[in-house]
Amino acid sequence: MALQLVTDSSHEKKLLERYISSRAKPDSTLQILEAGCGNKWQLALPDLCYSLSGVDLDEEALLLRQRNHNDLDTVIVGDLRSVNLPEHQYDIIYTAYVLEHVADVPRVLDNFNRWLKPGGLLVIKVPDRDTVYGFVARNTPHWLHVYYYRWIKGNKNAGKPGYLPYPTVYDKALGRHQMTQFCHREGLHLMAMLGKNNYLRKRSARDRAIRVFVRLIHLFSFGRLAWHYNDLIFIIEKPTALSDEHTAG
Ligand SMILES: C[S@@+](CC[C@H](N)C(=O)[O-])C[C@H]1O[C@@H](n2cnc3c(N)ncnc32)[C@H](O)[C@@H]1O
Repeated sequence: MALQLVTDSSHEKKLLERYISSRAKPDSTLQILEAGCGNKWQLALPDLCYSLSGVDLDEEALLLRQRNHNDLDTVIVGDLRSVNLPEHQYDIIYTAYVLEHVADVPRVLDNFNRWLKPGGLLVIKVPDRDTVYGFVARNTPHWLHVYYYRWIKGNKNAGKPGYLPYPTVYDKALGRHQMTQFCHREGLHLMAMLGKNNYLRKRSARDRAIRVFVRLIHLFSFGRLAWHYNDLIFIIEKPTALSDEHTAG
């Protein structure tokens, strides 16, 4: 499937909010699970009747989330690989910037598939490991990420309990090809694959220097590492009825 590039954050939010709203049914509350919810929710769904459950490994992040936003109807402390949630419970599972921190992503994907209702939507946002950004992130030490967040991005709490950044793993299962195969294998419908650039926004001298640097790495990788975007967003639908191939046993 071809990558559809989103132009900026407001374009991305509009698209995601439209996908999520498309699952709403009259007279029923949309059940949303935010997987690896951390200390804030990125979307606004003001016209929707929904119940938001948040699951995260980090108790501190959940405490901050409820103290600062108090927007979770259900708070669950647990690991996405092993937490026990009911089958076919959620209309939407949304996860952003989580799976790159998890080893054994296939186990989490299987859980998502099990927790999702037929007709439900799985939205996965993750940095693409096969971009220049992803390559640099997975080949540099965690302390350097903390340093970057604290001193370049100006987040003075970076690295403290409950705050970004978290150590990264970048399981191979997160590649575009592997995710497409996962959908095919499980009879899921990959509705869209969006690409988003988050790091080449400004037109400052520093931004121009970064642009030259990433294009050079792109060239040295013989074009294998993309430079013009860094995040992937998979929009995956669980069909209401599985095809014969997936019900045969
Ligand atoms: C980079 S933060 C992203 C938080 C939030 N989704 C956002 O977009 O701001 C990653 C979050 O994933 C959580 N996390 C990492 N591994 C996890 C796992 N195996 N199970 C549950 N949560 C996990 C971390 O505790 C952290 O809150």
